[in-house]
Amino acid sequence: MNTFEIKITVKKRAAVRALLVSALQNMGISPSDFVITDSQKELAVSLYRATRAECQALVKNISKAFSGQVLINILRHAKKDWSTQWKTGWKPFPLTRSIYVVPLWQERRNIPSGKRPIFLETTSAFGTGLHETTRFTSQLIEFQKGKFQSFFDIGTGSGLLCIVAALNGARKIEAVDIDKDAITVARNNVRANGVSGVRFSATDIKTYKQSTQFDLVAANLITHDLLRLKSKIISYVRPGGRLIISGISLANLKLIKKEFGFLKEIKLMKVTEGKEWSALLFEKKL
Ligand SMILES: C[S@@+](CC[C@H](N)C(=O)[O-])C[C@H]1O[C@@H](n2cnc3c(N)ncnc32)[C@H](O)[C@@H]1O
Repeated sequence: MNTFEIKITVKKRAAVRALLVSALQNMGISPSDFVITDSQKELAVSLYRATRAECQALVKNISKAFSGQVLINILRHAKKDWSTQWKTGWKPFPLTRSIYVVPLWQERRNIPSGKRPIFLETTSAFGTGLHETTRFTSQLIEFQKGKFQSFFDIGTGSGLLCIVAALNGARKIEAVDIDKDAITVARNNVRANGVSGVRFSATDIKTYKQSTQFDLVAANLITHDLLRLKSKIISYVRPGGRLIISGISLANLKLIKKEFGFLKEIKLMKVTEGKEWSALLFEKKL
């Protein structure tokens, strides 16, 4: 399966960001549906769609609105790219204070003493740990060490977060992913790290029927899904338990804080912000 990215690039001028965002909003595209990359020279806005035809229809409208002032490209991201990217030039790297991620085919020799390795293969799933969203979620899981025994991973991808949770004390772990290939990768990764008893389901969290509650729940999803599924996600946290949400670009942080801030049953405990992404830790009130 491919993903198609519409990348709109503009040379930086004052106020261009606000103009672009409001023009896209006027076309019915919400800020939670795009990712903004703001470098010194230029500003890029990316929108993701499942087919090239969907992209072409949108590009037509965007081109009309900006009449040649912006550069628009449609980029195809093949699923296979994950395996190629992962295998070229990746070395063991620190994920949290105590954990190093090590590609499955590499030896353990590069890990500093006292660090624990997670051996990982991500042939088609998101979640190598190199991305800020995964790293921040892993660090927040480690921050909760000693406070949880059960863990629910919503959108598990490579299964990395299940392994991080197990290394930090989780005894009962469940994980779901809408992508059945990701579940296969996650199962293999969990097994390769000697973590047993994880219950995996290839399912959309929207229609997931289980009603068990967990001490700690992590959801690293796109902002749009975090917003539309927030009540469902929170329902899996036991009263007094914790929730980590991630996958939030800095451009969307204000919106997420506002929308989750309205909810009476949870309280914001911690915000992690990086260069482009952020993750939030909440407590569910008793
Ligand atoms: C950004 S990746 C996160 C992977 C991993 N948990 C991590 O933190 O690196 C999001 C994952 O959520 C899955 N996903 C997206 N929407 C979902 C949904 N509605 N229900 C279940 N899984 C979903 C995707 O297939 C993908 O594997």
